[in-house]
Amino acid sequence: MSSILRFLTLLCTLITATSSPSLFVLGSSNVDIFAPTQSESVWPTPGENLLLPGPSCIKPGGKGLNQACALATLSSSLPTTFITCLPKSSPLSSVLLSALKSSKVTPILLEPVTSEHPGLGLVFPQTSDVSAIVLPNSNLDFPPTIETDLKSLKMCKLLLLQMEIPWRVNKMALDLIDDECVSILDLGGSFSPLPPTLKLTFLTMNHSEMLRLLTSLNYTFKDNFTEAANFIRSQFPNVNYVIITRSENGLILSSSSRTTTIPSPKINYVDGTGSGDNFRAGLGSKLIELEELDHESVVEACEYASMVGAKTCEILGAGCPDPLTLRGGGVEEDCERLGFGSRLNSMKDLPSLSPFTNDLEGWINRQGTIKGLTLIDFNYPQHLNPSTNLKKIEKLLQKNKLKTGAVCLRYPKKFVGGAFTNVDASLRREAIELTKQACETAQKLNCNEVVIWSAFDGYDYILTTDYNERYQNIVDAFQEICDNYPNVKVSLEFKPTDENTRFFTIPSTGMAILLTRDVDRANFGLTLDFGHLIMSGENPGQSVAAVLREKKLFGIQLNDGYSRYAAEDGMEFGSVNIKMALEVIYWLKKGNFEGHFYFDTFPLKVDPVGEAERNIKTVKKLWTMCEELDGLEDVWGDWPKCKELIDRVLYK
Ligand SMILES: *[C@@H]1O[C@H](CO)[C@@H](O)[C@H](O)[C@H]1NC(C)=O
Ligand SMILES: *[C@@H]1O[C@H](CO)[C@@H](O)[C@H](O)[C@H]1NC(C)=O
Ligand SMILES: *[C@@H]1O[C@H](CO)[C@@H](O)[C@H](O)[C@H]1NC(C)=O
Repeated sequence: MSSILRFLTLLCTLITATSSPSLFVLGSSNVDIFAPTQSESVWPTPGENLLLPGPSCIKPGGKGLNQACALATLSSSLPTTFITCLPKSSPLSSVLLSALKSSKVTPILLEPVTSEHPGLGLVFPQTSDVSAIVLPNSNLDFPPTIETDLKSLKMCKLLLLQMEIPWRVNKMALDLIDDECVSILDLGGSFSPLPPTLKLTFLTMNHSEMLRLLTSLNYTFKDNFTEAANFIRSQFPNVNYVIITRSENGLILSSSSRTTTIPSPKINYVDGTGSGDNFRAGLGSKLIELEELDHESVVEACEYASMVGAKTCEILGAGCPDPLTLRGGGVEEDCERLGFGSRLNSMKDLPSLSPFTNDLEGWINRQGTIKGLTLIDFNYPQHLNPSTNLKKIEKLLQKNKLKTGAVCLRYPKKFVGGAFTNVDASLRREAIELTKQACETAQKLNCNEVVIWSAFDGYDYILTTDYNERYQNIVDAFQEICDNYPNVKVSLEFKPTDENTRFFTIPSTGMAILLTRDVDRANFGLTLDFGHLIMSGENPGQSVAAVLREKKLFGIQLNDGYSRYAAEDGMEFGSVNIKMALEVIYWLKKGNFEGHFYFDTFPLKVDPVGEAERNIKTVKKLWTMCEELDGLEDVWGDWPKCKELIDRVLYK
């Protein structure tokens, strides 16, 4: 059995070694058993059975595993590989194996020489601090074949190391990586004297680890961190950067060019578990994005890493904060990241105001003049179809500094009796195939997003329709499309009613959420349209919150209207229902919406370019107001106080 495992491990190593570059974490993995929190420290006296009543829990841990999981969460550009040593046959290892399976980490698992169990941590949280007993087990029992096992490090762009495994293993890894690889050693774990020849990009430590290192170097610390950091660098001339983290007191970054103190972000401290590990993962994830490593850019990476570490302290446990919550770059950066698109067909209107031709090329060029616009959503098959020269479209987009946001289905008139819900199976098939073509096009244009609004999927007359069969047709169609294009996000934009179809099969957010559950595909979601929500008698903010809660909000279409039955006004966003508009933005921001803003408006009597620019401005203004609504949630339920705060922000 173990020879098979060894073979598999080797195979895995070889595959990784010959495939694409990766980020690596080499280190420990522990099963942490948390005793219930006690108000003061406890220890059994000899012969005593100490009972600690209250809830206990078991969690995966170890600095190596924590850093690997955090790195995989934070870095989207390259995959993360984690090399650790644990006995796969131990029942305790299953906790770690299932944690790795549900993470985005690719593990390389080495079989220990004799240890029957993985590392174990017995954690005793006290209300003031945390104590622990660590049984390293397999973390100190790496196999003698380690040199072969580490071969894949040749493809390493970033290597994170800590001190919870034997130093000889770390040393071997550092010898194997090439000069381009960024290496970060965390002095957390057990102390080992470091050789003066140590070659590293970053040596990181916290206050207590720094004191331990300085003691080994016979240096008396005189409360001057700059001096201490400079001294450490002088002892290890092949270390480029020394970082000393000091919790809320900020960190010290020392390089040959200078020593900088970087303040810590202000936070609501809850629990510091894992913040050091997440700091290092955050640092690594930022460093690999840098074009060049120099003191300036490293300061920036440290600021980001501090934010990651600080945010970790705001949540209970060692979990890594969602990278989206870390950007916090303010309104401009947030909005730029999400992107803006505006209805391409509105560029047909008031052609007298356009210097361009009144055709697809001219409409794209006209959109290129909209300040702040970053994306174009194309209709399929009206704007694009299988015979479109996509290379030409891409050139045109490039010239206008635009990208494709989504490809939007508009089923042609032949589907007037229904697209996915047509009683004629051959027409249903045709609609599905047309939608697949749109997915194909979305892939070719690199937007990987298809939005489906069908003008015809519903009915006009009572007692004419098998509602449940038509609903099932829709489920089946979306399942087939999603399974054929797993990399394309497919979303439904529902509408309650219009002149094409008096009753749609999916007429409300509730029904649409039900559909996402029945379709049950990760790449199926919803696009909500403000005007459609109003038409369905819904409060748009509530609908947005509900779909975000389901993690199914793929897109948002912003506009406004007077909410008369069946009338789609398509007016400027925020021009009629300003509070509702504010609340939609509030929930998009709060729920970490990841799609793009799309203005689905019909500016028939005003310059569509100016209208789009005002829409962009409105979103940014409302986004800023949401930041000013800080504290609103503390007074929720208290109308007078809510009104006071909202009015202060809205009418200032
Ligand atoms: C430094 O880190 C170690 C382990 O990661 C931790 O036990 C210790 O409390 C930390 N020291 C300080 C001063 O934060
Ligand atoms: C520190 O001092 C001790 C005792 O004087 C000595 O043995 C050791 O070599 C010194 N270490 C360094 C790094 O200088
Ligand atoms: C700490 O050391 C640095 C470098 O030796 C020195 O410039 C600085 O003045 C010292 N700070 C204090 C508060 O003594």
